[in-house]
Amino acid sequence: MQTKKLTIAIDGFSSCGKSTLAKELASRLQYIFIDSGAMYRTVTLFCLRNNWISGDQIQITEIINALSSISIEFKIDDQGNKSIYLNGENCENEIRQGHVASSVSRIAEIREVREKLVLEQQKMGEKGGIVMDGRDIGTVVFPHADLKLFVTASIEVRTQRRFLELTQKGIEITLEEVKDNLVERDFIDSNRKESPLVQAEDAVLLDNSTMTREEQLQWVLELVVSKVRSS
Ligand code: CDP
Repeated sequence: MQTKKLTIAIDGFSSCGKSTLAKELASRLQYIFIDSGAMYRTVTLFCLRNNWISGDQIQITEIINALSSISIEFKIDDQGNKSIYLNGENCENEIRQGHVASSVSRIAEIREVREKLVLEQQKMGEKGGIVMDGRDIGTVVFPHADLKLFVTASIEVRTQRRFLELTQKGIEITLEEVKDNLVERDFIDSNRKESPLVQAEDAVLLDNSTMTREEQLQWVLELVVSKVRSS
C-alpha cells in the first residue's frame, strides 16, 4: 500500500532547533527538507552586497526592483550536504554570519520579498512529502499542512545552542551578542505586519528545552505515524 506523503510545517522562535528537527525528520521519512530561513538570509546577503542596508536605513525600492534578478536554489553536493545558492554561487556559510543575522529580520518584513519567497516555497511543496521550517509555514505557506509544529525553548537554551553552533564554525561571537540577536529577531518577527510569527491554531506546541535531539525526533515521529494512520 502506498502511504500518503505528508506536508509538514515547522515554525517557531529563532534558534530553537527547527532546522535540525526538520532535517532529521525529512531524512527519516525520505521527504524533501527546506530551510525557508536560508532563503530570507540569502536575499539579505544580496542586499548587503549591494549596500542597500546600512544601519537602520534600507533601500526598499532598489530591493524590490532587483527581486526578479535574484535566483535562489538548493543543491546537494558530492558529500550529500544541501547548500543554498545565490545566482549560482554557494553561499551556505556566508548566510550564517553575524552581518546577515543582524539584518535578515528587517528584509523579511518587506511584503514583496515574502511574496516572491512564499511562491517559490509553495512550488517546492506542490507534491507533498516535504518538511519545511520557518516562521509562517503553517500559517501562510502551507495553511493546509497535514502536520504543523510550533517549536520553542527557553532563551538561555537557544542562546547556548546557537553560540556553540557558530563558534564550532570558527565564527567569533560572544554569548551576549548571540542572545541580543535572538531577542531582537524574535521581537521583529512576532510584531511585523506581514505574516508575523504566530502559532497556527492547529499547530502542536513542542518545547524542546529539556529534550535531546533524538527524544524530540521520536516525539514527532509518533505524531507523524498517527497522522498517516488517520489520513
Ligand atoms: O535559524 P534561525 O532560527 O536563526 O533563523 P532562520 O530560520 O535562519 O531565519 C532567519 C530569519 O528569516 C528569521 O529571523 C525571520 O526574520 C526570517 N524568516 C521569515 O520571516 N520567514 C520564514 N519563513 C523564515 C525565516
